[in-house]
Amino acid sequence: MTEGRRSRGSQTGKGSSISSGNPRWSPMSKLSVELCGIRLSNPTMLAAGVLDETGKTMISVARAGAGAIVTKSIGREPRAGHPNPCIVELEFGLLNAMGLPNPGMVGFAGEVAEAKKGGVPVIGSVFGGTDLEIAEVAHVMEKAGVDAIELNLSCPHAKGLGAEVGSTPEMVESVCRLAKASVRVPVWAKLTPNTASISVLAAAAERGGADAIVAINTVKGMAICPEARMPVLANRFGGLSGPAIRPIGVRCVYELFEAVTIPIIGVGGVSTARDALEYIMAGARAVQIGTAVWTDGLEVFGSIAEGLDAFMSKNGYDSIEQMVGVAHPARR
Ligand code: DHB
Repeated sequence: MTEGRRSRGSQTGKGSSISSGNPRWSPMSKLSVELCGIRLSNPTMLAAGVLDETGKTMISVARAGAGAIVTKSIGREPRAGHPNPCIVELEFGLLNAMGLPNPGMVGFAGEVAEAKKGGVPVIGSVFGGTDLEIAEVAHVMEKAGVDAIELNLSCPHAKGLGAEVGSTPEMVESVCRLAKASVRVPVWAKLTPNTASISVLAAAAERGGADAIVAINTVKGMAICPEARMPVLANRFGGLSGPAIRPIGVRCVYELFEAVTIPIIGVGGVSTARDALEYIMAGARAVQIGTAVWTDGLEVFGSIAEGLDAFMSKNGYDSIEQMVGVAHPARR
């Protein structure tokens, strides 16, 4: 293991170190992790897009045991989103095309202030059509009080709203550089798996100054109703999430661990401690949970944290850090 790998998690943004006030797990317990100077009481986080539209729902997720909360993706202006149907439940996941509905950066500021009362770090998810617009929204979200910015560079279908800005290394680098210049808190880049090489995009994010990579966003997909002879979603295409995409997410995180030195946050189909362990052993320091909150309820955060604790006790691990990337030959 190189020194670069060892120090991967302790790289900080300019923000000072803060602690989660989650009452269910002590910030000093063996589940606690540090991400870009932000201390999480345990490595589970709420993913963007589920139960994160209001301060109240985010507080309920914090109380359920999440180590951190990612807000809904917020843009400059309010957006109504796509018409219905915008979500369909499939055998192994959800396909959705909400169309990034949100109240706009000014309208959302009060929800961030409220969410902070939950006592866990709040990460502001941001989208936009250009690097300048994204930097502006990031700045306003920082002013609203978020502890880090997550750049949604990967909405799989909303034209002009994130799919393009995240699709080439040049654009990813430029968005990250401008966002970094506009805020003091850490900046995370959430990348798309709908690309030939997620590692090339991640390396560009790292060059642009991103403090962490979040992988993966949803996989672009489609469902057709044979009776109606038409696509189920009004938008036709959507993003697939849930158990079906976990092997894709784990593969991406594994590749990213060898491509970048900044911390990686795994997301895609996590609903049990074993799922979280796959991501951690592939190279993630924390995991985000979205679809499982929809399918299994808020208990999912507590059950994953308890399952991780039990696995670590049984297998002699004293910290999450000790397990990060151990599925790689160089870390075994
Ligand atoms: C939407 C946004 C996403 O980032 C995603 O992965 C899927 C759907 C949306 O708002 O439509």
